[in-house]
Amino acid sequence: MDHETVRRAPLFAGLDEEAAESLIKQMSAKHMERGDVLFHEGDQGDRLYVIGEGKVKLGRSSVDGRENLLAILGPGEMFGELSLFDPGPRTATATAVAETQVLALSTEQLREYLQGRPQVALTLLAALARRLRRTNESLADLVFTDVPGRVAKALLDLARRFGRPVDEGIMVSHDLTQEELAQLVGASRETVNKALADFAGRGWLKLEARAVLLMDVERLKRRAR
Ligand code: CMP
Repeated sequence: MDHETVRRAPLFAGLDEEAAESLIKQMSAKHMERGDVLFHEGDQGDRLYVIGEGKVKLGRSSVDGRENLLAILGPGEMFGELSLFDPGPRTATATAVAETQVLALSTEQLREYLQGRPQVALTLLAALARRLRRTNESLADLVFTDVPGRVAKALLDLARRFGRPVDEGIMVSHDLTQEELAQLVGASRETVNKALADFAGRGWLKLEARAVLLMDVERLKRRAR
């Protein structure tokens, strides 16, 4: 696992090399394949996770079995901390969408680690505040923005985190099926597919298996507004 990546997580804020390596040594590593579930919504939570490699989807399901994705997280991102800071059941199910490596830190280890490290606690608060901001924005988008606008926004967000520049634009290997992309946008697969086909028809993007090539980011940005 790439320690440089893991150390981008808020948990490691301001730590020198030695302190960061000693924390990583205390954490337990877990390898997952696509589809492996790390924990279920409603489980009792006793550890937080940092992603070293791969991607994890955080999803909730309704009583009639429909799925909604709260987020797709990638290398250097952290999850599972809510039920540690506010003891209670897990608020979402965490599932790997690609081959994934995570590092786990237990509640007791976290408590001990935060003692005397107010700087790390503040950085964790900042990460939570950022997430709340994003969640408020998604909520407003669900109410105020049409599905194509939300699709454009979701693609740009995935591009910012998982994209890499190529000759024709930005290649975004998101590892999601069209169904999962629709769950992330909060719309039906048909409506999301229609929006994607429309964007592709205009030459703004090209669809690939579990990836998308963004060819006109400016137009997508305008559509996302
Ligand atoms: P926890 O409730 O322990 O388990 C599910 C995790 O999903 C939760 O902690 C957070 O780390 C993460 N999570 C919950 N809601 C969101 C969200 N809106 N955006 C990103 N991550 C989330």
